[in-house]
Amino acid sequence: MTQYNIALIGFGGVNRALAQLVADSNERWDAELGLRLNIVAVTDLYFGSVISPNGIDARMLVDTNFAKGGFGQLSGGSAEACNERVIRHAPADIVVEATFTNPVDGEPAVSHCRWALERGKHVVTTNKGPVALASDELKALAARNGVMFEYEGAVMSGTPVIRMARKTLAGAGIYGFEGILNGTSNFVLGRMEGGLGFADAVKEAQSLGYAEADPSADVEGHDVRLKVVILANELLGGKLAPKDIACEGISGVTVADIETAAQEGYRWKLIGSASVAEDGRIEARVAPRRLPLDHPLAGVGGATNAVSFKTGLLGAVTVTGPGAGRIETAYALLSDIIAIHQAGSGASKKEAA
Ligand code: HSE
Repeated sequence: MTQYNIALIGFGGVNRALAQLVADSNERWDAELGLRLNIVAVTDLYFGSVISPNGIDARMLVDTNFAKGGFGQLSGGSAEACNERVIRHAPADIVVEATFTNPVDGEPAVSHCRWALERGKHVVTTNKGPVALASDELKALAARNGVMFEYEGAVMSGTPVIRMARKTLAGAGIYGFEGILNGTSNFVLGRMEGGLGFADAVKEAQSLGYAEADPSADVEGHDVRLKVVILANELLGGKLAPKDIACEGISGVTVADIETAAQEGYRWKLIGSASVAEDGRIEARVAPRRLPLDHPLAGVGGATNAVSFKTGLLGAVTVTGPGAGRIETAYALLSDIIAIHQAGSGASKKEAA
């Protein structure tokens, strides 16, 4: 059995759900996978930070209703977030970055990843900012320090698309994809089809933990655009930045549009797509599209996501599954940790100083 010390950066829905999984599942992971997780530090802008080299009781963490600055009450705690100190100095093997996505420059998450990798700590993240905006730099930094930078949850939460496409479809000749890559907007379109107003549907998606901190990123297509950048760069060898991708969201789609489409045998979906053109350029876009009901993506409902890879050898290969949600996204972090475990790059890579 290998025990990994982990530091949680951000204690919102996703890392809280990971702590819940640790509290519930360590015994099973030990038996099935030969690994256990030990939370040695947590930091959060609202709750403060805590470092405990022997480990923090995961059950206590999820069951306690902490007030603002509440981690300051714990042994080894502070009412301040102290992210840099925690990331650099907590005795963690793996830093779990789950703070908010900043679509402009990826900060402060890019710095969080950089500090960890520089100190020889693996990074797993669900944060699209560092992956879409700084992945070349962070991958190189990880390689130089002999650690891994993993980010399965940046696209389609726990549904394995990045690793599946990169590993399981290796050699199949992926030359493009189209997908429903935002759970909130798909959920909202579905609820509007059921007669609910746009604003109420967005509120419902927020209460279910699907939406971004700023839900306009979901409904205006910006979240999908980051995911298209990630998939295009990761799988098609692109060097795209968000500004390279034309982007339109669903805020202009009305209940009347949805009703008309239904009467005519169509359904509106927000589609993110990219493909390699004949001249080698990558053409990518995000836009609402009216799909005929027999289109494979037309039947994907609720917060479910789907991506259809275009491949030379297999034709279209479509993966569908959850694209949002706290536990679903926490599972992506676990899958990244399992990838680190299975790569044998191991625990207890000690800090230099
Ligand atoms: N807010 C995103 C969605 C989930 O609704 O799909 C995280 O990417």
